[in-house]
Amino acid sequence: MFATSVNASATERPADPRLEGRALRRVAFDEQTIAAKVRELGAQITAAYPDGDLLVLGLLKGSFIFVSDLVRQIQRPLHVDFLVASSYGEGTVSSGHVRLLYDPETTLEGKHILLVEDIVDTGRTLQRLMHLLADRNPKSLEICALLHKHVATELEAPVRFVGFDAPNEFLVGYGLDHAESFRHVPYIASLQ
Ligand code: PRP
Repeated sequence: MFATSVNASATERPADPRLEGRALRRVAFDEQTIAAKVRELGAQITAAYPDGDLLVLGLLKGSFIFVSDLVRQIQRPLHVDFLVASSYGEGTVSSGHVRLLYDPETTLEGKHILLVEDIVDTGRTLQRLMHLLADRNPKSLEICALLHKHVATELEAPVRFVGFDAPNEFLVGYGLDHAESFRHVPYIASLQ
């Protein structure tokens, strides 16, 4: 059992074998804190959508754990689908374009669309996606993000449902990766 209390010093906990030998700097949000926040978000979303078709659209890969926990806390009918988006352009610099590698199979027109993101950083990903999805004529289009760094200069749309204000650190766990590792870590942490 790995103790993961908020802001506990990394030296207070045994090494976590999931971390590939990397040392924890700190746990930003532990399992209990995340679970309580997800319940809270689920209640907010339930109240916000009294009627109509609700489609929860998770943005892969980062949101896969958050979406699976969140939808179980929403007490109303809904459908779930996912988006896979990719920035493309020359070299490693984003062109600002977002291309959908996987497009939801369900139609978006006339439905409440809730786009679920793990973390909003620059906001570039969401900014492009919001335009792309708005073109499909949904009844409403809102964003739910577990973490928000509040540094997004590129995102015009408000993030309607926010879990936590994220510290300006590189975070892993609960879906968030570093070079594809650590997504399965059940708490959100920064590494040394
Ligand atoms: C990460 C994260 C968000 C996005 C946030 O995704 O999951 O989708 O970056 O950054 P932004 O606000 O600056 O656009 P990433 O591209 O690493 O893919 P992943 O979801 O597969 O981890």
